[in-house]
Amino acid sequence: MRNQAKTLGIMAIFKGSPNQPTFREKSYYTTLTRIGSKLGIRVVVFSPRQVDFTSRMVIGFELIERVWKRIKIPFPQLIYDRYFMGPHIAKYKPIIERLQNDPQITFLGHGLSGKWQVYNILIKSDILQKWLPHTQLFSPTLLEKNLAEQGAVIIKPMAGTHGSGVIRVSSVNKGYELMGRTQDNKPFTRMIPTKEGLLTRIQKLTAGRKYILQPYLSLHTTDGLPFDIRILVQKNGQGNWTTTGKAVRVGKKESITSNLHGGGIAVRLEDFLSQHYPHNLCKEIAKEVNLLAQLLPPFLEENHGRLVELGIDVGVDTQGHVWIIEVNSRPGRTVFRQIEDGNARLRSVALPVKYAEYLLKERIGG
Ligand SMILES: Nc1ncnc2c1ncn2[C@@H]1O[C@H](COP(=O)(O)OP(=O)(O)O)[C@@H](O)[C@H]1O
Ligand SMILES: [Mg+2]
Repeated sequence: MRNQAKTLGIMAIFKGSPNQPTFREKSYYTTLTRIGSKLGIRVVVFSPRQVDFTSRMVIGFELIERVWKRIKIPFPQLIYDRYFMGPHIAKYKPIIERLQNDPQITFLGHGLSGKWQVYNILIKSDILQKWLPHTQLFSPTLLEKNLAEQGAVIIKPMAGTHGSGVIRVSSVNKGYELMGRTQDNKPFTRMIPTKEGLLTRIQKLTAGRKYILQPYLSLHTTDGLPFDIRILVQKNGQGNWTTTGKAVRVGKKESITSNLHGGGIAVRLEDFLSQHYPHNLCKEIAKEVNLLAQLLPPFLEENHGRLVELGIDVGVDTQGHVWIIEVNSRPGRTVFRQIEDGNARLRSVALPVKYAEYLLKERIGG
């Protein structure tokens, strides 16, 4: 009974047959299990496809003596949402919402549903709005208008990840140039001589998904390396926001995205900035980045609902202007391993469990 009273369920995507499922992020969940056991919190991984509301039981996996064993347990009191939006989201959305609305279950954080939703919240902040690129819902008419005015724009899927589907459209001498990544994240470049041709191609590329439109920003170094700053902010064991770590992701020269999944690499922030910007500008950039990392999480939470951690993608243009590019509620942790920041890496894994412990105390306390 005591054990059951302290269970953290990690909601994840399972692949394979229902009898022999497998899941990603195993090493992360292994560490969460280890930290959980030190704090007296049992960690179980489950998928929304094996939740039974009648018996209030879930089938999941628990790490017992180094082996992930299949188990059936009562609903966990706490849920850590690592369910990345995938092709089955429509099917599982009602189940996830039912779990979120269950009075006996607390989600460490409620997932953000996409770039457009986040933009519309953040734009209401008098302070944060200065860091937001002007963002509009994509339409062919707006694309034409903005291209005529700005020369180059970015279109990207509202619910995209890893840089997939991010495309720069530019007006050039011989017509139009498309450069970016396909829906399955392959880099491509294409010249299109006519406006009609462009619109037909864009219609094909955007079919079936919702897109947003932004000005194309020069988010690269003066010698053409695309990069962005990834900040991980998390709740700690006192329920307060803290910045766990920061790193720079650098893409390939011929790319417009800097995501690790698209071939980018992670490097240390201070080293990178000082190599590419003058000293005073570096200080200014660092100051703004720290300020936005402090202001954004509580503002977003106030207008969205509980959050446990955020990966904030910050762009810096050739002038040194800082831009909020994306806020992710299911951030990865690979950057800290790549830059060998062991401290940030450890904290990044320990904090979700410490926050879970804090929430359990709060529940018991009242
Ligand atoms: N408005 C923009 N101007 C220039 N580059 C951009 C713009 N928006 C995104 N990018 C580039 O594309 C990358 C991926 O965009 P992002 O919005 O973070 O989508 P994803 O969810 O696919 O990571 C960014 O990290 C940045 O390198
Ligand atoms: Mg991103």
